[in-house]
Amino acid sequence: AARPEAARPAAACPVTGPEPALFGWEFATDPYPAYAWLRENAPVHRTTLPSGVDAWLVTRYDDARQALADQRLSKDPARHAAATAARGKTGIPGEQRAGLFAHLLNIDPPDHTRLRRLVSRAFTPRRVEAFRPRVQELTDRLIDGFAARGTADLIHEFAFPLPIYAICDMLGVPAEDQDDFRDWAGMMIRHSRPGERAAPRGGVARAVKRIRAYLEELIHRKRAEAAGDDLISGLIRASDHGEQLTEAEAAAMAFILLFAGFETTVNLIGNGVNALLRHPDQLALLRAGLARGDERLLATAVEELLRFDGPVELATWRFATEPLTIGGTRVPAGDPVLVVLGGADRDPRRFTDPDTLDLTRQDNPHLGFGHGIHYCLGAPLARLEGQRALATLLTRLPDLRCAVAPEELRWRGGLIMRGLRELPVAFTPVG
Ligand code: HEM
Repeated sequence: AARPEAARPAAACPVTGPEPALFGWEFATDPYPAYAWLRENAPVHRTTLPSGVDAWLVTRYDDARQALADQRLSKDPARHAAATAARGKTGIPGEQRAGLFAHLLNIDPPDHTRLRRLVSRAFTPRRVEAFRPRVQELTDRLIDGFAARGTADLIHEFAFPLPIYAICDMLGVPAEDQDDFRDWAGMMIRHSRPGERAAPRGGVARAVKRIRAYLEELIHRKRAEAAGDDLISGLIRASDHGEQLTEAEAAAMAFILLFAGFETTVNLIGNGVNALLRHPDQLALLRAGLARGDERLLATAVEELLRFDGPVELATWRFATEPLTIGGTRVPAGDPVLVVLGGADRDPRRFTDPDTLDLTRQDNPHLGFGHGIHYCLGAPLARLEGQRALATLLTRLPDLRCAVAPEELRWRGGLIMRGLRELPVAFTPVG
């Protein structure tokens, strides 16, 4: 039944006022009012990104879903590079078109179809399910590290290491090398360990170089051994009509599995715990179920957290291969298009009370994992990690609370991902 106008959420009403400043500090802290303004006033909006590149932002759910599946929008950065070279600002470093960056998220069919089919044979939901006890073990071990202290930074001590160790284990990176990956991953996203200064910018290129050398060596060794049951061995063996991945393709695949599944999962846990701590009624609901040993709410809770404050901000680059129309707006060939998942997932045209966190929400076809042929390959692993992380934290630390006011939280302003720099929490120490 139609609800009275006054009871409708603010975003369902016309959003008036001047165009909000995009990409500043306020936007990094809470982009949702700006997304609401764009959705209502300029749903397909051309803007200049901080990098100087002009791009279209798509913020309505239907337009976003359609654009994610539109194969006239290419994922290959070379398309953009070619189209904008004349303007002298591609914003895409040369390395991103080759080597480790020639991975699923940067290629189109038919190469994408072939590589995705091959990796899907190795990275199966069954393999992920078999990994459940290991994820639980990792989760418990990390909590053991701070449980007796009564305080922690949940990003550095929990959300950051969990997905790195999990995917390293799954890929078959030996335990003694996993801390190197933790450091390289930190350099890639300029995270530092507690007490250290943020890694310098040039660190990204250095980290990529070290990861490449390491993965090439590891793949070479595993190919020689040929018998492992880890994911890299599975990738090497996977074949399709007699066709196999080359060592370079396997390295690019391992790289994207490491990094597509890393910062995203950090942010699922960080944004998710933060949202729960800010919504005591929803937190109490989830805790009450967990205290009874009832985990039924966990699945819808994780989906709702992905919708409400998902990990991916603008990391959905696509490039128009021909002139096309999105939501009635003409987009010229060569232009970059960024699907704003956080805008789409708060669209009142699709979601009831979109600005309300409702862990019991059933009708929730959110776009947090994307849509179409590039739909997140790691969604089963991300869901497993997110569910184990939340359930274990809330069960083992039953009075977990945020140690700072919301306005003191610092968000990473990278635009690619939405996530916290740190999440200080407090709780009664447990032995
Ligand atoms: C693709 C989100 C975790 C591997 C994507 C896309 C999104 C996404 C939105 C599509 C991007 C686009 O269409 O432009 C997430 C979120 C995660 C997560 C929110 C965590 C909460 C993971 C994990 C892995 C992974 C754990 C692997 C270990 C991938 C890969 C692709 C992908 C390989 C590319 C698929 C393709 O192009 O065919 N992810 N992801 N992701 N994700 Fe995830």
